[in-house]
Amino acid sequence: MNKEEAKRRIDQLTIDLEEHNYQYYVLSTPSISDFDFDTLLKELEQLESEHPECAHSNSPTKRVGGDITKKFPSVVHDYPMLSLSNSYSKEEITEFESRARKMTDADMEYVCELKYDGLAIAIKYVNGEFNRAVTRGDGTKGEDISANVRTIKAIPMRMRGTDIPDELEIRGEIFFPLDRFLALNKQREEDGEQLYANPRNTASGTLKNQNSLLVAERGLDSFLYGVYSPVKIADTHFDSVKKAGDWGFNVPKEENNTIKKCKSIDEIMDFINYWDEKRHDLNFEVDGVVIKVNDYIQQEDLGYTAKSPRWAIAYKFKAAEVSTELLDVTYQVGRTGAITPVAHLAPVHLAGTTVKRASLHNSDQIVKLDLRLGDHVFVEKGGEIIPKVTGVELSKRKPNAEVFVYAAQCPECNTELIRKEGEAQHYCLNDEGCPTQIVGRMQHFISRRAMDIQGIGSETIELLYNEGLLTDMSDLYHLTTNQLLPLERMAEKSVVNMLEGIEKSKAVPFERALFAIGIRYVGETVAKKLARHFHSIERLMAASKEDLIGVDEIGERIAISVLEFFQNENSLRIINRLTEAGVQFEIPEEQWAGQTNKLSGQSFVISGVFERYSRDELKAIIEKNGGKNTGSVSGKTNYLLAGEDMGPSKRAKAEKLEVQIISESDFEKMIA
Ligand code: IVH
Repeated sequence: MNKEEAKRRIDQLTIDLEEHNYQYYVLSTPSISDFDFDTLLKELEQLESEHPECAHSNSPTKRVGGDITKKFPSVVHDYPMLSLSNSYSKEEITEFESRARKMTDADMEYVCELKYDGLAIAIKYVNGEFNRAVTRGDGTKGEDISANVRTIKAIPMRMRGTDIPDELEIRGEIFFPLDRFLALNKQREEDGEQLYANPRNTASGTLKNQNSLLVAERGLDSFLYGVYSPVKIADTHFDSVKKAGDWGFNVPKEENNTIKKCKSIDEIMDFINYWDEKRHDLNFEVDGVVIKVNDYIQQEDLGYTAKSPRWAIAYKFKAAEVSTELLDVTYQVGRTGAITPVAHLAPVHLAGTTVKRASLHNSDQIVKLDLRLGDHVFVEKGGEIIPKVTGVELSKRKPNAEVFVYAAQCPECNTELIRKEGEAQHYCLNDEGCPTQIVGRMQHFISRRAMDIQGIGSETIELLYNEGLLTDMSDLYHLTTNQLLPLERMAEKSVVNMLEGIEKSKAVPFERALFAIGIRYVGETVAKKLARHFHSIERLMAASKEDLIGVDEIGERIAISVLEFFQNENSLRIINRLTEAGVQFEIPEEQWAGQTNKLSGQSFVISGVFERYSRDELKAIIEKNGGKNTGSVSGKTNYLLAGEDMGPSKRAKAEKLEVQIISESDFEKMIA
């Protein structure tokens, strides 16, 4: 394909892919299968790499993430980002409405919208093209987080339709969809990692992450509700939002009552009451309703206070809360031995569901609440989705209610519970004898994201454990038809399926087998990193703490956990048996082939941000060429590969030790 043809194809693919994104993420009516989308995207990636000069700065290929932002530049807002005065009282909303009516003589019209509980964002478009995205910051200046916002597919890279102004700023809210948030926490729970507290803070943390790849993975979403431009867009707020919708922005819609024109306080109250009830059905969090004067001229007449407009107010919903009796507290034991206290409650109706249990987090929380059995407790359903106990209704406390004593022993195996310094959770350390942990580890081993063993479920694992047929995961590979058939409810067909599923799992790649064996803190991502770095469990087992920390994003906590795991005789025995059975504990050489010896015997330290490669990519290239990566500069380091914003201490140390400092292009020459 010559350059001209390539350019034409790139232009077309760019337009088509952006259109598919719009159909899928804004209209929720997919126009193409995921597979076909990926195929087109790959084609575009390929063409762009062959003809980089033809690639668009806002190409759909940039939406998959990968850009690293070391420091988010501070940017002054073109229009200050104000806040809203807000209130929990309906009387104040009534007062707001009558004040507004008095200050202007004409008929009033208001627009009611949801108050999205996310992070405010201001996105600028120049000639219809995405230009930058800036956080609210202090209202006057915010941080440019463009690389991360680009990965949010509901935000167009290019406006659609006609009448597009030269310059436009659109404002709205970025949030974590609830289903994605729940899935993320479920994953973290499975990986034995601390859970995220709520969607809002997690969205905020995600948007400030330096690695846009992670942002893309998380699947944030957005709603846009404010339009600013040097030229007039429309006479009213409602019409400009509608216009923004035509331009391809994800805006609130009249059809689903997420935006509504109201002419009276009664209509406003109807909107509030409707959403106070219905908000629990949404896949995102709203913490209230915003009421805005619709007409722009009337808005100007009403003006502003120092911090907020007089033409708008937010009504905040009260968090859904009820009081009910605390019947009991039990303790759950996770597969890593972490103990979670659970409150058992007299069933009570809360925000659309019947609640019988609530989370108590840990022992500190119980002490803080000063809980007694039989207390009436307040239960709240907020951002956490799982309801939590927020307080005690002291007026209902019985005179001699017993002070609550936290469990001293594991409810499953009676081992004394330990709380390590700096950790909030208690742990049962009897990992080899605590049945719940043993069963939990095996259930994790067979799970979909791990060995994905078809034909066996969590109950079967429990049954086989109770029957004495399984004591650890390696026993799975020694099960026989004769052992299984006599078991209750075990038909011949299911036995065949089970054994077939087990056999097939032997083909599962190393990174998933590594995740499956359940090393604490080694979740899916970490397992992938370790597998790709070390290529085999043998090399991973031989790694020192420094070797482990040298792998991108592996810290001390994970390194220690890995070392401890491989020091344990039982772990080693299980790994041996699994290896003998044929489980993949290495990546076949041809998969990381392309190996050279160009950097053999050379040791590198990578620091800073690079133009053409991510740090992970550089590390992989060094390894592929026989070199070694280490985390810190020492007398043994041969090269310091220096990118932008490299830490000054690293440079000083390298200079002192006379380690050669090389740039990205020097490095490219070395491996060319
Ligand atoms: S309008 C000048 N509309 O609430 C007023 N804000 O407390 C501009 N928010 O910073 C804001 N949903 O982050 C507006 N439908 C909505 C909103 C909304 C959520 C947030 C926004 C703002 C904060 C004000």
